[in-house]
Amino acid sequence: SRANIGVVGLAVMGSNLARNLAGRPGNTVAIYNRSADKTHHLATAHPEAEFVTADTVEEFAQSLSTPRTAIIMVQAGPATDQVISQLADVFEPGDIIVDGGNAHFTDTIRREAELAARGLNFVGAGISGGEEGALNGPSIMPGGSAEAWNTLGPILESIAAVADGEPCVTHVGTDGAGHFVKMIHNGIEYADMQLIAEAYDLLRHAAGLSPQEIADVFRQWNTGVLESYLIDITAEVLGHVDATTGSPLVDVIVDQAGSKGTGVWTVQSAVGLGVPVTGIAEAVFARAISSSGASRRAGGGLPGPTPTDGKSGSAIGDAQGFIDMVEQALYASKIVAYSQGFDAISEAASEYNWSIDRGEIARIWRAGCIIRAQFLDRITEAYREQPELPLLLAAPYFHSALDDAQTPWRKVIQAGVETGIATPAFSSSLAYYDQIRRERLPACLIQGQRDFFGAHTYKRVDAEGAFHTDWSADRSESRVD
Ligand code: 6PG
Repeated sequence: SRANIGVVGLAVMGSNLARNLAGRPGNTVAIYNRSADKTHHLATAHPEAEFVTADTVEEFAQSLSTPRTAIIMVQAGPATDQVISQLADVFEPGDIIVDGGNAHFTDTIRREAELAARGLNFVGAGISGGEEGALNGPSIMPGGSAEAWNTLGPILESIAAVADGEPCVTHVGTDGAGHFVKMIHNGIEYADMQLIAEAYDLLRHAAGLSPQEIADVFRQWNTGVLESYLIDITAEVLGHVDATTGSPLVDVIVDQAGSKGTGVWTVQSAVGLGVPVTGIAEAVFARAISSSGASRRAGGGLPGPTPTDGKSGSAIGDAQGFIDMVEQALYASKIVAYSQGFDAISEAASEYNWSIDRGEIARIWRAGCIIRAQFLDRITEAYREQPELPLLLAAPYFHSALDDAQTPWRKVIQAGVETGIATPAFSSSLAYYDQIRRERLPACLIQGQRDFFGAHTYKRVDAEGAFHTDWSADRSESRVD
């Protein structure tokens, strides 16, 4: 038993993670894959890693020192269950099985309970950063028991991305907490990408800039408050010219966004928890609209302003002025999307009894992951100053950023409305913002309607209790509780 850590599943993410682990002092890595060719191929291609290869799960178990610790990197769903059950049969009480895939957190809760009953530790760990992150340092969001974290923590710290000298990993909470937080990360990723896409659309079709010019705008933005990985890669994509046609690549890519499901899960879970994640939901719906071929074909002739490539819309005076406004609108909407994501984390923490330090979550998202951004420092600071902060938007730094963004945010959305350029994520973020700060909402009318047709009762602003108006008779009011 020479290895202190093992990896099961050697597709790109698993291979890269195994190489990352092997490259850190103190680690010896056992590797196992369903088809042994992959195992030997990886070991041969990377002799420097000194992998311990295993052709069977039994060999794999024997090659690991105790407590055995293995990270599974296979497809989420039945494939993961299968590997877990194989390992559970050859591992012993106290050993640790880590699922590093994008599992649904409720599966993780189930698996943790099943394995705990057999004395095994199960850790669902969200791992973000794609192939490159897996190899050079991802952001890691592990759940599971404190006992498992004692063994696993130092190993994960050795491979995680580093921000300001600190590894981007923390023990998120028990059982499914890590995978829940990873799911929210992905939801925020969706919102962030959609906001960036809307900004591009406005700059392209309302302000009339070319993809190259917009790439430069994004490069510029990447030196300010929006500095982030997603802004950076957006500039790269927009600046890239297609070798076949000589056109900007973005113009030859089919405009139908794919997805693997974590964004949908985020929205489904948030709806179940009663948390409005409107920015994320609009991002999920926008991908669905883009891919709904039949509706788009049928909708093609509908009336309304048609966005062109020229300068259009009364909000666009000078182009630079408009660019600056879009930057502000993007920033404000992004603050809303993150605030909503953190609300979902808070609500889930109380629903599932997780103790989650939200400042720590923002901290481990500062490097390695897809949503890494300068701005996460501000979120960490906000939660460090006020750990029980009820609304991220209301923290002093964000309050003042939203104050600065007010006029541009509204003007940019107006420009979209006028020119027929949809800005679902910008608009829904503003709509959320305008509702959350309102002293009274028209929900009073909804309550009146509900009482009218279904005697669902309402509360009064000036008295305790539930009331019903006898709408179909003399319209007298009675207290009903
Ligand atoms: C990450 C990503 C990753 C995710 C892709 C694709 O953190 O490294 O979130 O886990 O699978 O971004 O997601 P979609 O295919 O759903 O866009």
